Amino acid sequence: MEQQHGKHALNTCEQTDIEVLGKSIKIPRSKRVIPNRVVYQPMELNSADASGAPAKRDLAVLADQFRGQPGINWLQATAVMPSGISTRNQWVLTEKNLPAFKQIAKLHRELNPKGLLLIQLTHSGWLALDDPVTPYLSGDCPNARLLTDAEMREIQKRNIEAYQLAEAAGFHGAELAKECHGYLFSKMLNRENKSRPGWSYGGPSLEERLGYYAETMRLAQKALSHPETFVNVMRISMLHGMSDEFGTLPGSADEDPSLQDAYTLVRVALELGTQIINVSSGIGAQSLHLMVPTSEHPERVLDHFRWTAAVKEWVGNNAIVVGSAYSYLRDGNNKVSDGLLHEKSLWHLAAENIRHGQTDMIGLARQVLADPLVAAKLLGGDLAHISWCTGCGKCIGLLGNQLLAGCEIYDPFAQGVAASARRMGKLKK
Ligand SMILES: Cc1cc2nc3c(=O)[nH]c(=O)nc-3n(C[C@H](O)[C@H](O)[C@H](O)COP(=O)(O)O)c2cc1C
Ligand code: SF4
Repeated sequence: MEQQHGKHALNTCEQTDIEVLGKSIKIPRSKRVIPNRVVYQPMELNSADASGAPAKRDLAVLADQFRGQPGINWLQATAVMPSGISTRNQWVLTEKNLPAFKQIAKLHRELNPKGLLLIQLTHSGWLALDDPVTPYLSGDCPNARLLTDAEMREIQKRNIEAYQLAEAAGFHGAELAKECHGYLFSKMLNRENKSRPGWSYGGPSLEERLGYYAETMRLAQKALSHPETFVNVMRISMLHGMSDEFGTLPGSADEDPSLQDAYTLVRVALELGTQIINVSSGIGAQSLHLMVPTSEHPERVLDHFRWTAAVKEWVGNNAIVVGSAYSYLRDGNNKVSDGLLHEKSLWHLAAENIRHGQTDMIGLARQVLADPLVAAKLLGGDLAHISWCTGCGKCIGLLGNQLLAGCEIYDPFAQGVAASARRMGKLKK
């Protein structure tokens, strides 16, 4: 049986899935309602101008993404101070750059007035380009120097200022201190972050190692003009995937099946009033396969489903949970081989997970670079016109080589950047 929907004929099964993705959802402890279940996730593109302000091209890229009408536009890793950048042209949110961030919020109000606009705030820690810093010395970051208490107080101050600036710019909420993907605050969660002379921010228990984040969050909330309406959100890496780090069995790189570390982090997040939790995994620089499924690691999609379902079970209705890593699924043309997944398209598995209470919303990253209008097309049933991400990873290659990132398959601008970088020997085939 077929039914007309928008420009295309959809079968009843697809129609039902799309209706699930189009349902609104209320943010806990807030009057705000998110109009649908699609989240455009943070993607750093190394695209700022020389001062760290979002550049003209950023506004054009974002305008397309806002026209996609996702329920949430969760904008990219933005450094809270210039020394915290990990790519040369990373956005930096400071008083001086505030006008550019205000422009972004204005554009969002015009183009996606019902959607929620968030921004991710970070200090890159050992991954910082010019001054790599770390809470503890380890073999994986030999060039990083140890942080002092005084520097931690300065970093805290800058986080609080950036949180206030995000509110002043007109964002609906912000992710303070990026607790995922190995940057400063997530590095602090690892067991090696023990006590040492001149260092007050470590300890034997995860609760102690989370103390600095908790204190920063409490102070940042107090500093807001309207803490009751500014949405409190967090991204977490369920498993760092490196030996003896967050989420592993002690002394091993294997996952702790009890998920005890993630459980503790989520519990503390709820105590701090977190309203939206985006489940992610891995460390970009070390265990990218945990974060970004590809044809080499298609089964990682199922790990993300499992992790997200666990977090949803822990938080119940106290927070909205967003799952990650859906781009690889595409229109079903993927290598996920679990026998249970008889229908493997992104929209079907996304709807199934929502229907079964295993997530509230689904996140898309690479798929947004491939087609910024993907949410509008999905929700309008225009499945035939979606440019599907191939999972080739070329966008990540551009970023990893300190080049302006974008989709090399569908975006002529990114193709131009890549071609000229190859000519100059700055990018391999
Ligand atoms: C080019 C690129 C840049 C990214 N930048 C960020 C970032 O700034 N912050 C972040 O938390 N994750 C970042 N990610 C990770 C994505 O948000 C997402 O978790 C990951 O790509 C998996 O989702 P996908 O399968 O939909 O691509 C980035 C990913 C890509 C491809
Ligand atoms: S470059 Fe490849 S992986 Fe990146 S968005 Fe485009 S198609 Fe997807």
